[in-house]
Amino acid sequence: MDELEQIRAEVLTCRKCTLCETRHNPVFGEGNRHAPVMCIGEGPGYYEDMAGKPFVGKSGELLDKIFLACGFTRDKHVFIANIVKCRPPENRNPKADEMAACLPYLYRQIELVDPKIIILLGSTALKGLIDPNARITRLRGQWLEWQNRWVMPTYHPSALLRNPELKRDAWEDFKKVIDKYRETVDPAHYSKYH
Ligand code: URA
Ligand code: SF4
Repeated sequence: MDELEQIRAEVLTCRKCTLCETRHNPVFGEGNRHAPVMCIGEGPGYYEDMAGKPFVGKSGELLDKIFLACGFTRDKHVFIANIVKCRPPENRNPKADEMAACLPYLYRQIELVDPKIIILLGSTALKGLIDPNARITRLRGQWLEWQNRWVMPTYHPSALLRNPELKRDAWEDFKKVIDKYRETVDPAHYSKYH
Protein backbone atom coordinates (compact mmCIF):
# COMPACT_ATOMS: atom_id res chain seq x y z
CA MET A 1 0.00 0.00 0.00
CA ASP A 2 1.12 3.55 -0.74
CA GLU A 3 2.49 4.95 2.52
CA LEU A 4 0.10 7.90 2.55
CA GLU A 5 -2.78 5.44 2.27
CA GLN A 6 -1.20 3.51 5.15
CA ILE A 7 -1.33 6.66 7.31
CA ARG A 8 -4.94 7.25 6.26
CA ALA A 9 -5.83 3.74 7.41
CA GLU A 10 -4.14 4.36 10.77
CA VAL A 11 -5.91 7.69 11.25
CA LEU A 12 -9.31 6.25 10.41
CA THR A 13 -9.09 3.84 13.35
CA CYS A 14 -6.87 5.92 15.65
CA ARG A 15 -7.55 6.01 19.39
CA LYS A 16 -4.35 7.72 20.56
CA CYS A 17 -6.15 10.60 22.25
CA THR A 18 -9.56 11.21 23.81
CA LEU A 19 -10.85 13.16 20.80
CA CYS A 20 -11.61 9.73 19.32
CA GLU A 21 -14.48 9.39 21.79
CA THR A 22 -16.50 12.31 20.43
CA ARG A 23 -15.55 12.43 16.74
CA HIS A 24 -17.80 11.13 14.01
CA ASN A 25 -15.14 10.92 11.31
CA PRO A 26 -11.40 11.56 11.51
CA VAL A 27 -10.27 14.01 8.82
CA PHE A 28 -7.09 12.71 7.25
CA GLY A 29 -6.70 15.55 4.74
CA GLU A 30 -6.94 15.73 0.96
CA GLY A 31 -5.37 17.07 -2.18
CA ASN A 32 -2.57 16.22 -4.58
CA ARG A 33 -0.35 13.65 -2.87
CA HIS A 34 2.68 15.44 -4.38
CA ALA A 35 1.32 18.95 -3.89
CA PRO A 36 3.92 21.75 -3.94
CA VAL A 37 1.86 23.62 -1.34
CA MET A 38 0.56 22.22 1.94
CA CYS A 39 -2.07 24.12 3.91
CA ILE A 40 -2.34 23.27 7.59
CA GLY A 41 -5.38 24.20 9.68
CA GLU A 42 -6.30 23.58 13.28
CA GLY A 43 -8.71 20.68 13.32
CA PRO A 44 -12.08 19.59 11.97
CA GLY A 45 -15.18 21.61 12.81
CA TYR A 46 -18.78 20.41 12.74
CA TYR A 47 -19.10 19.97 8.96
CA GLU A 48 -15.65 18.47 8.54
CA ASP A 49 -16.38 15.94 11.29
CA MET A 50 -19.60 15.00 9.51
CA ALA A 51 -18.01 14.78 6.06
CA GLY A 52 -14.57 13.39 6.97
CA LYS A 53 -13.05 16.09 4.72
CA PRO A 54 -11.08 19.23 5.57
CA PHE A 55 -12.44 22.77 5.16
CA VAL A 56 -15.91 22.05 3.84
CA GLY A 57 -17.79 24.60 6.02
CA LYS A 58 -17.80 28.41 5.92
CA SER A 59 -14.02 28.65 6.45
CA GLY A 60 -13.56 26.23 3.57
CA GLU A 61 -15.66 28.38 1.28
CA LEU A 62 -13.45 31.35 2.00
CA LEU A 63 -10.30 29.24 1.62
CA ASP A 64 -11.52 28.13 -1.82
CA LYS A 65 -12.00 31.78 -2.82
CA ILE A 66 -8.46 32.55 -1.71
CA PHE A 67 -7.12 29.54 -3.67
CA LEU A 68 -9.04 30.72 -6.73
CA ALA A 69 -7.45 34.16 -6.47
CA CYS A 70 -4.02 32.49 -6.16
CA GLY A 71 -4.64 30.27 -9.19
CA PHE A 72 -4.53 27.18 -6.96
CA THR A 73 -6.93 24.26 -7.06
CA ARG A 74 -7.45 21.74 -4.29
CA ASP A 75 -6.70 18.72 -6.43
CA LYS A 76 -3.66 20.05 -8.31
CA HIS A 77 -1.64 22.58 -6.28
CA VAL A 78 -2.42 21.93 -2.63
CA PHE A 79 -2.76 19.31 0.05
CA ILE A 80 -4.89 20.35 3.03
CA ALA A 81 -4.28 18.88 6.49
CA ASN A 82 -4.85 19.78 10.12
CA ILE A 83 -2.90 19.73 13.38
CA VAL A 84 -5.46 17.32 14.92
CA LYS A 85 -7.45 14.91 12.78
CA CYS A 86 -10.49 14.63 15.06
CA ARG A 87 -12.90 17.39 16.01
CA PRO A 88 -12.42 18.93 19.46
CA PRO A 89 -15.83 19.11 21.19
CA GLU A 90 -17.57 22.51 20.74
CA ASN A 91 -14.65 23.49 18.47
CA ARG A 92 -12.45 24.28 21.48
CA ASN A 93 -8.73 24.59 20.80
CA PRO A 94 -6.93 21.25 20.75
CA LYS A 95 -5.03 20.58 24.00
CA ALA A 96 -1.29 20.08 24.18
CA ASP A 97 -1.55 16.32 24.75
CA GLU A 98 -3.96 15.93 21.82
CA MET A 99 -1.63 17.83 19.51
CA ALA A 100 1.33 15.78 20.72
CA ALA A 101 -0.57 12.55 20.05
CA CYS A 102 -1.62 13.60 16.55
CA LEU A 103 1.41 15.49 15.23
CA PRO A 104 3.38 12.39 14.20
CA TYR A 105 0.75 11.77 11.50
CA LEU A 106 1.22 15.29 10.17
CA TYR A 107 5.01 14.97 10.19
CA ARG A 108 4.72 11.81 8.09
CA GLN A 109 2.24 13.49 5.73
CA ILE A 110 4.63 16.39 5.22
CA GLU A 111 7.56 14.05 4.48
CA LEU A 112 5.57 12.08 1.93
CA VAL A 113 3.77 14.93 0.17
CA ASP A 114 7.09 16.83 0.32
CA PRO A 115 5.72 20.35 -0.28
CA LYS A 116 8.08 23.22 -1.08
CA ILE A 117 5.74 25.67 0.67
CA ILE A 118 3.68 25.24 3.85
CA ILE A 119 0.90 27.69 4.72
CA LEU A 120 -0.01 27.73 8.41
CA LEU A 121 -3.59 28.82 8.90
CA GLY A 122 -3.86 30.50 12.27
CA SER A 123 -2.44 30.33 15.73
CA THR A 124 -2.91 26.61 16.45
CA ALA A 125 -1.12 25.59 13.26
CA LEU A 126 1.75 27.98 14.02
CA LYS A 127 2.08 26.86 17.64
CA GLY A 128 1.63 23.18 16.80
CA LEU A 129 4.19 22.99 14.03
CA ILE A 130 6.75 25.68 14.91
CA ASP A 131 6.70 26.86 18.52
CA PRO A 132 4.07 26.77 21.30
CA ASN A 133 5.03 30.33 22.26
CA ALA A 134 4.86 31.82 18.76
CA ARG A 135 2.29 34.53 18.10
CA ILE A 136 0.38 34.63 14.83
CA THR A 137 -0.12 38.40 15.03
CA ARG A 138 3.67 38.83 15.22
CA LEU A 139 4.84 36.17 12.75
CA ARG A 140 2.18 36.29 10.04
CA GLY A 141 3.41 37.46 6.67
CA GLN A 142 7.03 36.45 7.35
CA TRP A 143 8.76 33.51 5.74
CA LEU A 144 10.06 30.94 8.19
CA GLU A 145 12.31 28.07 7.22
CA TRP A 146 11.43 24.70 8.70
CA GLN A 147 13.04 21.42 7.67
CA ASN A 148 14.14 22.91 4.39
CA ARG A 149 10.67 24.14 3.50
CA TRP A 150 9.29 27.64 3.19
CA VAL A 151 6.63 28.30 5.80
CA MET A 152 4.17 31.20 5.68
CA PRO A 153 2.01 31.77 8.78
CA THR A 154 -1.19 33.67 8.11
CA TYR A 155 -4.61 34.17 9.66
CA HIS A 156 -7.10 31.34 9.82
CA PRO A 157 -10.09 31.85 7.46
CA SER A 158 -12.40 31.83 10.50
CA ALA A 159 -10.50 34.86 11.86
CA LEU A 160 -11.04 36.58 8.50
CA LEU A 161 -14.76 35.83 8.72
CA ARG A 162 -14.93 37.30 12.23
CA ASN A 163 -12.71 40.29 11.40
CA PRO A 164 -12.99 41.16 7.70
CA GLU A 165 -10.53 44.01 8.17
CA LEU A 166 -7.79 41.35 8.47
CA LYS A 167 -8.40 40.22 4.89
CA ARG A 168 -6.14 42.91 3.47
CA ASP A 169 -3.15 41.61 5.46
CA ALA A 170 -4.01 38.00 4.64
CA TRP A 171 -4.00 38.79 0.92
CA GLU A 172 -0.52 40.32 1.30
CA ASP A 173 0.58 36.99 2.83
CA PHE A 174 -0.94 34.98 -0.02
CA LYS A 175 0.70 37.26 -2.60
CA LYS A 176 4.04 36.31 -1.03
CA VAL A 177 3.04 32.66 -1.42
CA ILE A 178 2.26 33.21 -5.12
CA ASP A 179 5.67 34.90 -5.58
CA LYS A 180 7.43 32.02 -3.82
CA TYR A 181 5.47 29.51 -5.90
CA ARG A 182 6.76 31.19 -9.08
CA GLU A 183 10.31 31.23 -7.67
CA THR A 184 10.44 27.63 -6.50
CA VAL A 185 7.83 25.65 -8.44
CA ASP A 186 6.53 27.24 -11.66
CA PRO A 187 7.75 30.58 -13.05
CA ALA A 188 4.79 30.60 -15.46
CA HIS A 189 2.16 30.18 -12.75
CA TYR A 190 -0.92 32.26 -13.57
CA SER A 191 -3.05 33.96 -10.98
CA LYS A 192 -5.79 36.40 -11.80
CA TYR A 193 -5.04 39.11 -9.25
CA HIS A 194 -1.29 39.07 -8.74
N1 URA B 1 -10.97 24.73 10.37
C1 URA B 1 -9.80 24.06 10.42
O1 URA B 1 -8.86 24.48 11.06
N2 URA B 1 -9.70 22.92 9.75
C2 URA B 1 -10.69 22.41 9.00
O2 URA B 1 -10.50 21.37 8.40
C3 URA B 1 -11.90 23.14 8.96
C4 URA B 1 -12.02 24.29 9.66
FE1 SF4 C 1 -5.77 9.91 16.86
FE2 SF4 C 1 -5.27 12.40 16.14
FE3 SF4 C 1 -7.78 11.55 16.31
FE4 SF4 C 1 -6.34 11.91 18.53
S1 SF4 C 1 -6.96 13.51 17.07
S2 SF4 C 1 -7.63 10.13 18.06
S3 SF4 C 1 -4.30 11.30 17.83
S4 SF4 C 1 -6.23 10.84 14.86
